[in-house]
Amino acid sequence: MRITEEKGGDAFERLLYCEDDTTGLRAYIAIHSTLLGPAAGGCRMFPYPDHAAARADALRLARGMTFKNAAAGLDLGGGKAVIIADPSRDKTPALMQAFGRFVDTLKGSYYTAEDVGISVEDIEQVASVTPYAVGLSTGRFASGDPSPFTALGVFLSMQEAWFRVAGTRSLKGTSVAVQGLGHVGWQLASRLHQAGARLLVADIDKGRVAAACEEFDATAVDTAHIAAAPVDIYAPCAMGGALSPEVIADLKARLVCGAANNQLADDSCGAMLMARGITYAPDYVVNSGGIINVASEIFRIDDRRWVARKIDALAAFTGQILDQAREQQTAPNIIADQLVLERLANSVRQRDIA
Ligand code: NAI
Repeated sequence: MRITEEKGGDAFERLLYCEDDTTGLRAYIAIHSTLLGPAAGGCRMFPYPDHAAARADALRLARGMTFKNAAAGLDLGGGKAVIIADPSRDKTPALMQAFGRFVDTLKGSYYTAEDVGISVEDIEQVASVTPYAVGLSTGRFASGDPSPFTALGVFLSMQEAWFRVAGTRSLKGTSVAVQGLGHVGWQLASRLHQAGARLLVADIDKGRVAAACEEFDATAVDTAHIAAAPVDIYAPCAMGGALSPEVIADLKARLVCGAANNQLADDSCGAMLMARGITYAPDYVVNSGGIINVASEIFRIDDRRWVARKIDALAAFTGQILDQAREQQTAPNIIADQLVLERLANSVRQRDIA
């Protein structure tokens, strides 16, 4: 196994590349910041076209984790791992264990977990060789599938945001367009249905759409038209980049609040939403319920109330961001970034004082 230190740029603490001839492992671990605590962020397996694409993804995602963990009030920094491989073809227990040995060399400055292309079973292989793998299904502190906690955080944040839009936290009778009925989207749809919301749903998987129509009395909408559906709330729960200038121009919803990461095609899309009078609940804040649950495993906390309190706090933080955005006439994504950077700066000051 060969591990080399690469340059990730001034903003990053470390970027490591690992190659293992025996198992075929080719992986990057990027550590953006350990200012608040050990870096934490999932491991993604994807057939990247080349090393540059994998490296860029690791760096972008690691930085995103610094912001998400800080926003969630967790004493965790930001890091991410990517494995260059096709999960449907290349994944073997030996490869996952080799990745685990790579993680172990960082001696706890980076904790890994599931992400796209990586299952609980894969993380269990990683955990067989390092204690720095979380998201396990068994064991005293095992946190299991993070998706229900992500969905809960999105739901509570949606109530807070709807209060800023419509003066009530009740979602009864509101119409919500849910784009993507995967792990999180399904759970969110279930909560919304229970709360009395009327659902419009879309997914490229027609089976999931049919099941949601049956289970939640939802109306199916074509994937190409879900974003522009005539609803109160749009909940992007599929892939990133759901909010491009073209999509924003067509939106009918008064609020956007969903689980997907990196919803804005770029930062300026936040201002475009504001200019159209559409409230945007920042993605990395509202979708941090899952990492909060994973954090309970890192910190070895088996009190479920700790997780519940942190998820309540993330919803309150969403409200705080939206209030500040309105007062300062600034897009909520910009306010969220400012508040997170303040938290990071405060921690530097506190550390310097101590
Ligand atoms: P998933 O892979 O289980 O579900 C995604 C769903 O979106 C699938 O059912 C897929 O068929 C559907 N989809 C893909 N392209 C689509 C399109 N163009 N239109 C409509 N549907 C489409 O993923 P999961 O775990 O539910 O995550 C959803 C989003 O939330 C992702 O962006 C993820 O990064 C983000 N997220 C997930 C967390 C979790 O706890 N699972 C935590 C934080 C963020």
